[in-house]
Amino acid sequence: MKTSLDRGAASKPSSEQRSTMVRTTIDCTDYAPLGDVDWIEQTERGLLLGVGEEKVRVDVLFPDVLRLKISQAGSFDESPTFATCFEMPAPPPFEVRDTPDEVVVETARLRLRISKHPFAMDAYREDGSVIFEDDRDEEGNPRGYLQLNDAFVVTRRMAPGDSMYGLGEKTGAFDRRGRNFALWNTDILHPNVLRLNHLHEADHTLTGRSTEFDPYYTSIPLFYHCRATDGATAIAGFFIDNGYKGNFEFSADNCYRYAFASGQYTEYVFAGPDLRGALRAYTFVTGRMAPPPLWSLGHHQCRYHHYTDEELFAIGKQYRERSIPCDVLWLDIGYMDGYRVFTWHPTRYPDAPRFIDALTESRFRLVTIVDPGVKVEPGYPVFDEGRARNLLCKTESGNLYIGKVWPGRSAFPDFVKPEARAWWASLIARHAASGVAGIWNDMNEPATGDIEPFAMRFDRDGEDHPHERYHNQFALLMAKATSEGLAEARPDHRTFVLSRAGFAGIQRYAAQWLGDNCSNWEHLQMSVPMALAMGISGQPFIGADIPGFVSTPSPDLAARWVQCGALTPFCRYHNHWGEPDQYPWSFGPEVEEICRNAIQLRYRLLPYLYTAFFQASESGDPIARPLVYDFQQDRRARETEDAYLLGEALLVAPVCEPGRTERSVYLPEGTWVDWHTGERHTGGRFITAKAPLDRIPLFARGGYIIPTYASAPESTMGHAPELLVLHVFLPDEDGEFSSELHEDDGLTLAFSRGAYHRTAFRLTRRGAAVSISAVVKGGGFAEFRRRALRLVFHGFRGREITLDGRTLRVEDGIVEFENRAENFTLELALDDARSVAAKGGERKALREAL
Ligand code: GLC
Repeated sequence: MKTSLDRGAASKPSSEQRSTMVRTTIDCTDYAPLGDVDWIEQTERGLLLGVGEEKVRVDVLFPDVLRLKISQAGSFDESPTFATCFEMPAPPPFEVRDTPDEVVVETARLRLRISKHPFAMDAYREDGSVIFEDDRDEEGNPRGYLQLNDAFVVTRRMAPGDSMYGLGEKTGAFDRRGRNFALWNTDILHPNVLRLNHLHEADHTLTGRSTEFDPYYTSIPLFYHCRATDGATAIAGFFIDNGYKGNFEFSADNCYRYAFASGQYTEYVFAGPDLRGALRAYTFVTGRMAPPPLWSLGHHQCRYHHYTDEELFAIGKQYRERSIPCDVLWLDIGYMDGYRVFTWHPTRYPDAPRFIDALTESRFRLVTIVDPGVKVEPGYPVFDEGRARNLLCKTESGNLYIGKVWPGRSAFPDFVKPEARAWWASLIARHAASGVAGIWNDMNEPATGDIEPFAMRFDRDGEDHPHERYHNQFALLMAKATSEGLAEARPDHRTFVLSRAGFAGIQRYAAQWLGDNCSNWEHLQMSVPMALAMGISGQPFIGADIPGFVSTPSPDLAARWVQCGALTPFCRYHNHWGEPDQYPWSFGPEVEEICRNAIQLRYRLLPYLYTAFFQASESGDPIARPLVYDFQQDRRARETEDAYLLGEALLVAPVCEPGRTERSVYLPEGTWVDWHTGERHTGGRFITAKAPLDRIPLFARGGYIIPTYASAPESTMGHAPELLVLHVFLPDEDGEFSSELHEDDGLTLAFSRGAYHRTAFRLTRRGAAVSISAVVKGGGFAEFRRRALRLVFHGFRGREITLDGRTLRVEDGIVEFENRAENFTLELALDDARSVAAKGGERKALREAL
């Protein structure tokens, strides 16, 4: 058996672009295959096989979703991690065909072939396209699954033109092909963190400031294998439900390989063939984000700075005076007394509840950081209680585990224990009772400073477990406890938690940011594919620190960063200790104006964004989505990683290079309307978009309706306008297009009891005839104030429309009518079926309307 993979040049990306961030290829020397299939048993939902000394289990979850498991020492671990959270669906119909050489499990959507002598697995869709194929050596002997002691390696075939996506938060290109990666939650900026975490495979010449550094804060063992053939491009997803350190090798020519240091092989196979279906299935398995409070979609102001209450209040006041919308002020570690979690600094915050009341009057909310490290200090009640109740992590011998974080010697809650999570939740609830609206979880890889983490052990059901088993899940469990604490404090309110580290499933409890980035163009550029990869790895609520955390951006970088950041799902200013001010107004009046416009645009778009968040919570769809998500069959869309769709209908093409005044943008199929100029483009080609410093290229998708506020509120608190503006982007082509608008109180769980309005729009164009129907569902909500809709048509020059049989006049492409969430049907005739471009005066009016 060959012991390492062929290392010839992979066909993509090119060798110049390629960098193997994790250098070492997976070494399978001394690993052995399982052997032959000895016996087969059909089960209620699949198969059980005896293979060598182990068992293999195939569970059919859906016709296009399989779960594959291999036992260790003959038994199955039924809950290998805390990532999954689904109720097992009733088994779908499937057939089993057993022949002397193979056994086949077949559903309506796929066929799993298991070779018996020796054991190997291959899976195909109903059309014969490959989902996965075990690798074979030169003699044709399968080497798909190999094991050694508790470790295992899976190797599968890959074709030269294939792409690999996913793996969550990773540096580098969106297409992971050509590189190797490790999954081990890492506090990237800590010096020596690779050595302290025994990451021998990582490139130790890189620092955490490098755009090639690996591993990162979050580990998501989900990847997609994309194969483009002449007829169609098919994508399959694979989630390995294993929390140990993982290594993924996508650098070889003909096969990909992944390895886990321990734990069982449990793999969910999502047949696709489309990325959307695979992600929706993955988020069925690991859960979807909960609907967020509206305020968390607003602009957040954060800084690693020891503000006093007055100083922070003064920052808020600046936002108001300068008309830059802002919902949330954040407190970093300086608000605590000596970095003791769940305390307030006695002189900086002598009366936190009163201070928070004052912020509320100015329509701000407050989020505070809560790190996991508990200061080791007898007499400090949190430490005393944690130790007395045996809720802190121990070493193998039973001593308290000590790491070194902000408070110095620190102990760590054992979040694997339900009692420790309940304890933490009660501390969070008490903290939140002072009025704190949301919680920021940081250093939760867990970061243990200069002390190796491995002596920190975990207790599951009274059994002691090594650090490696739960390291990657620490943040997931901390976020779970934190969100439960917020729910305990305000049972009928939605929760907001921001987490640095994470694991598969973190989206259920927390939003995430991309950690400690740097204020340079490379990091701005990198933040785009990184956030998009998080989106297709189940985490839709994601964003990078604006305008870069470490060091000081130039004014033009600060401007470009906010333009981009305002159009990402999570939008927060944050910067490092000791840096000069980096508020929107810190870079001079020109940049201030750009920041104001960017953030005001975000606030005007909130009804649209909020709807996209709701859709994400229901479907698992990303909010910032790579073009491959909606245009999988288009090669140029698949290759685009410097632009994305925000929701379904807005294409954002950030400028991430200095000195640019234009950039090339690939517009996929359809009609695209330049947000700034109204210019219409037919997709399927590259265009050059003008991008002076005050403009981010932004395009609306023809056929879609984008709901907005008429003007940007300074805060979402109490904002319930009487008028909503619907921007209607008429398509140049015939077709039917669906858009939605979700409205509710933005704060509580009343929506789950029917207190919402959900409007489904359907725009149909047939030649010159366009009709728009709006159908409203939901029982409504007490805070609803809307009385009218203003429709702004982009691409319609006519003077009248018909609304439910009545004729209404249209002035400069704009019409307004009463509407309190009632259904309506509207008809209009395009004056020129071939060209609906806005002209002169109309363009000006529309620009003002935007
Ligand atoms: C970590 C966080 C950063 C925070 C700092 C101090 O570096 O990533 O966001 O400001 O710690 O708490």
